[in-house]
Amino acid sequence: MMDLDRIPDHIGIVMDGNGRWARAKGLPRLSGHNAGMLAMKEIVKRASALGVQYLTVYAFSTENWKRSVEEVSGIFNLLVLYVDRELAELNANNVKVRILGDYEELPRNAVERLRRSIETTADNSGMCFCIALNYGSRDEIARGLRAIAADALAGRLAPAEIDEALIAGRLYTAGMPDPDLIIRTGGERRLSNFLLWQSAYSELVFSEAYWPDFTPRAFEKAIEEYQGRERRFGGR
Ligand code: FPP
Repeated sequence: MMDLDRIPDHIGIVMDGNGRWARAKGLPRLSGHNAGMLAMKEIVKRASALGVQYLTVYAFSTENWKRSVEEVSGIFNLLVLYVDRELAELNANNVKVRILGDYEELPRNAVERLRRSIETTADNSGMCFCIALNYGSRDEIARGLRAIAADALAGRLAPAEIDEALIAGRLYTAGMPDPDLIIRTGGERRLSNFLLWQSAYSELVFSEAYWPDFTPRAFEKAIEEYQGRERRFGGR
């Protein structure tokens, strides 16, 4: 049974398996992403209802640009569709949208919808729904280090002041707690450049289900698995 008093504050999800879900059904890859978008919608609702404070989903990586133009533009069209369909309800549910990654590089209509989502929900105090878009953890760390180096060179920062908290404050996740739990669907067991700095002590839960088949009940099962783990943070 899930303990409602021990819901993780921050859950990260690598939503993998859309392409294989589609192939298994003889459908085009984009149908898989469309089904993945619908799955994401349900998980966001359940996470918010359970009292999760931060839900971070990996929607598009810095490496995903290598996919076909059709697939890439199809994913961004789905993002636009998602915002158009869901923004009012997200806002009504007090959800705050945040983007991790350099989203200014995305197609213009996607950037416009993202800005609107951020602005509309800016004053909300409920769950923070963080969408990692054009995100890569190594890229994030490199950007943070460039900013730190520039500050040091300009004399605003002494090297001795560079500590873990200062570095964390230069990442896209600045001000957020580290993820307690990271879920990856689709059967692979790796992080794939997702929240590498932030996941130092995260519990990892893997699901064989392809992302479009990952239900709110499966999400709760993953939380139950997390609750059965003992976290020691390097202590004893
Ligand atoms: C991974 O499956 C999924 C993605 C790269 C895209 C995720 C997109 C969505 C869930 C829908 C769109 C929503 C937003 C917010 C953009 P894969 O294609 O790598 O699956 P495979 O490993 O089976 O090929």
